[in-house]
Amino acid sequence: MTAKNSWWEGAVIYQLMPRSYADGNGDGIGDFQGLTSRLNYLRWLGVEAVWLTPVYPSPLQDGGYDITDFKAIHPELGDLAAFHRFLTAAHEHGMKVILDLVLNHTSHLHPWFQRARWAPKGSTERNVFVWSDDPNRYTEAPVLFRKFEDSNWQWDSVAEQYYLHRFLKHQPDLNYENPWVQEEMLGVLDFWLQKGVDGFRLDAVPFLYESEGTRCEGLPETHDFLKKVRQRVENSGRDVLLLAEAIQPVDEAAPYLADDELHGAFNFALTAHLFAAIASGNCKKLRQCLQDAQTIVPGCRWALPLRNHDELWLGDGHLVPEDVIQSIRSGLPGGHGHWLNWGINRRLAPLLNGDPRANKVLHALLYSLPGMPCLYYGDELGMGDWPGLRDRDPNRTPMAWTSARNGGFSSAPEPLLVLPAITSPGYDYRVVNVEVQKQLPGSLLNWHRRMLTCRRLLPALRLGSFEVLESTHPSVLVYSRCSGSMTVLIAANLSGAGASLQIDLSKWKGSRTREVLWGCEYPVADENWFVYLPSFGFSWWLIGEVEDTDVPSVD
Ligand code: NOJ
Repeated sequence: MTAKNSWWEGAVIYQLMPRSYADGNGDGIGDFQGLTSRLNYLRWLGVEAVWLTPVYPSPLQDGGYDITDFKAIHPELGDLAAFHRFLTAAHEHGMKVILDLVLNHTSHLHPWFQRARWAPKGSTERNVFVWSDDPNRYTEAPVLFRKFEDSNWQWDSVAEQYYLHRFLKHQPDLNYENPWVQEEMLGVLDFWLQKGVDGFRLDAVPFLYESEGTRCEGLPETHDFLKKVRQRVENSGRDVLLLAEAIQPVDEAAPYLADDELHGAFNFALTAHLFAAIASGNCKKLRQCLQDAQTIVPGCRWALPLRNHDELWLGDGHLVPEDVIQSIRSGLPGGHGHWLNWGINRRLAPLLNGDPRANKVLHALLYSLPGMPCLYYGDELGMGDWPGLRDRDPNRTPMAWTSARNGGFSSAPEPLLVLPAITSPGYDYRVVNVEVQKQLPGSLLNWHRRMLTCRRLLPALRLGSFEVLESTHPSVLVYSRCSGSMTVLIAANLSGAGASLQIDLSKWKGSRTREVLWGCEYPVADENWFVYLPSFGFSWWLIGEVEDTDVPSVD
């Protein structure tokens, strides 16, 4: 008997920021009421799961990743009842819900931290956080938000000690050496499991423990604790996704995917290589990264993002080599002058200079590679950004729904909006919005919907085996996905110049080939099968005949 697949294997995940998505009560801030009213859209688009950035009470010094109460909802978004209504409605629409869970730190305004500052040195209450008399500890741990902080330590005049913060000084790191912290945070997990959520995106998982002489990332103790997290989920008896946010090279991210640890992890190295391939027109390193990831952890446990609510994180040479970073910095037309901490602070469309062909080829890869494709809200429209806003806010502006005031995001007067709606040339919400694009058959939005429909009709793209094929052209990535009687061949040209190439299809020699998206017949497969791909062009071909039972119906 074959084991039943988990819901998340190969699922298409849509990431959104609830405060920027849809405002239901007209106060200028997105909320659960608004989000619930937009579930029809998400179902129409064809995504399977919605990942919400943090929804908890927070002073919002780091977009909600600075939490003051892990077991409540930020009042601007609603309350637990509103969350429950949203979750129930999402399930009724056939969608799963993934919550962002921040294990590593709290807000400095969290009652635990306020209590810790006043508690005696060395007490359990004080040791809920990581304190030191000496700010020169763990000096090999990089300062992550270096635009805003110059040290990982902050002096506290009440405690008369320094506390550790791997992110902003407003986000003290929890001390996982303290068993009380472990139990409390496992209790948080239980709380949301009982509420019925379907998954957790575990924020900043590498940083739970510290050790002198290391980068303080992914230490053995961290993995031990994550195994306890997994055990809690197993105890619930539910099929719940645990997805790691670890911005690390593939070989360092892979240990989070041990059988008794987390189910999935973002492949951020792949993201960087995708942009490097587009920037340089060469996909050699992208190909290698794909092969490495699939060799180390085969199958669909890697989550595949292009952009998200952060900068396009490239790092200090640890995630991807310096020359890859340089090729992105010099080759991506929209990237110049937008460096934040360790990456480029732009949304996808402007990064690609507004070229929809580049948007399409990158998503055509995401939708056909093994893994969980992650679509960032607004990227299905080619939405723009607002450079000049503080921190990562340029990428977090309101979703553009219609041409009406505030892009249909909110009925509030414009100055009350959480962030300004985009009106910059080429990206104005009066043109780039859901309502307009739904009505234009050739729009980017309709293209995304069509691709997701095709993906559902081709189960080989979801769970099929994966093989990278030889390509005679440096700009073209070629691979196949197979399951049952279904084989899909994919070729993608990552350069702005057209490419003709021969593909060795000898293992399918004599088989029928059909291009899926255009619905046209190609010559039968042979060892010198010839194709032409225009600039940023791609194709998905079905090879051979497909049993009817291998094609699901799409409702
Ligand atoms: C990663 C999140 O994606 C980012 O937005 C946040 O600032 C840090 N973790 C700290 O929580």
